[in-house]
Amino acid sequence: MATQTLAFSAPSNIALIKYWGKGINQTPKNPSLSFSLKNAVTKTSLDFLKKEEGQAAFTFSFEGKSERKFHPKIESLFASAFELYPTLADYSFQLQSENTFPHSTGIASSASSMAALSLCLTSLAKNLHLPLVTGEFLSSASFLARLGSGSAARSTYGGFTIWGRTRHYPQASDEYAIDVNEMVHSSMKKLGDSILIVSSKEKTLGSSAGHRLMNDNPYANTRFLQADVLMGELLSSMKTGDFEKWGEIVEKEALGLHALMLLSESSPILLKPASLELITLIREFRKESSLPVYFTIDAGPNIHLLYPLEIKSKVQQFITDRCLKHLENAMVIHDEIGPGPYSL
Ligand code: DP6
Repeated sequence: MATQTLAFSAPSNIALIKYWGKGINQTPKNPSLSFSLKNAVTKTSLDFLKKEEGQAAFTFSFEGKSERKFHPKIESLFASAFELYPTLADYSFQLQSENTFPHSTGIASSASSMAALSLCLTSLAKNLHLPLVTGEFLSSASFLARLGSGSAARSTYGGFTIWGRTRHYPQASDEYAIDVNEMVHSSMKKLGDSILIVSSKEKTLGSSAGHRLMNDNPYANTRFLQADVLMGELLSSMKTGDFEKWGEIVEKEALGLHALMLLSESSPILLKPASLELITLIREFRKESSLPVYFTIDAGPNIHLLYPLEIKSKVQQFITDRCLKHLENAMVIHDEIGPGPYSL
């Protein structure tokens, strides 16, 4: 059999309600909601052929180089894929991957990379007519991606997705994410996300260690319940297109994530003085301009500025006039809500 290739582009995503705390099999302790980005994507191509005796299960190169540090995650994703689809273990794989965004800017590369690889492997399972784990392609790819990295479950779709059971969306599942674009008001479907880079240093708190902090955080159960309450409120604001309410909840949730960290055992402080300066500037600008400009923050110091795309030029002006001096090398990554993965 000659070598065959499958290739996918998959986006990173930004969570508005955050996944923070996990149980067995990488199931989330609370529901999360995110939107997929347009420009920040991983492109992965997977060459495969029937394995010969003694041949390695996979080789991997990232942007042309063999990056050992990514191996454990990839190895574990292949192991999960072989468990779901044992026939895939008969193949040997050559994996090549590249990101369209700079490394260590707080954009979750594990989400896009695990999603891209999961789409390739699920596509192979589908082509081989193996029964897919959920019975459907995208949610099966999401299921596998989740096993690689929780937030990757949300990167097998475009636009808005929910991952994790919630009483506000009965179809939602802990095992895979679902597409929820259908319920979103048309005025909210075109969002900008300008990422203000306060620091591009490697994260001081890896996500696995971060999730673990929730295991003995005394406020954990309250947080998990509260995340579901915020999910309900966020969904209603998205149904009606109430941007003000939406932004209020998104900011409350982002600061809540950092408050949780401060309340956990080692109390890591991930925000930097410049992050706080920017938050203040954004709130001042919103007040004086009456423009719907809000922020969210992941487990790091960088600030994601969220706004309707129609006011992009005004937001860019605000960034140039007031924010650049607080950023590392005046670095801003302009992104926006994106259409999701596609096969290459
Ligand atoms: C703060 O998905 O990176 O970005 O499942 O251990 O790979 P693992 O964690 P990961 O955690 C993401 C945490 C977050 C919030 C979010 O994206 O929901």
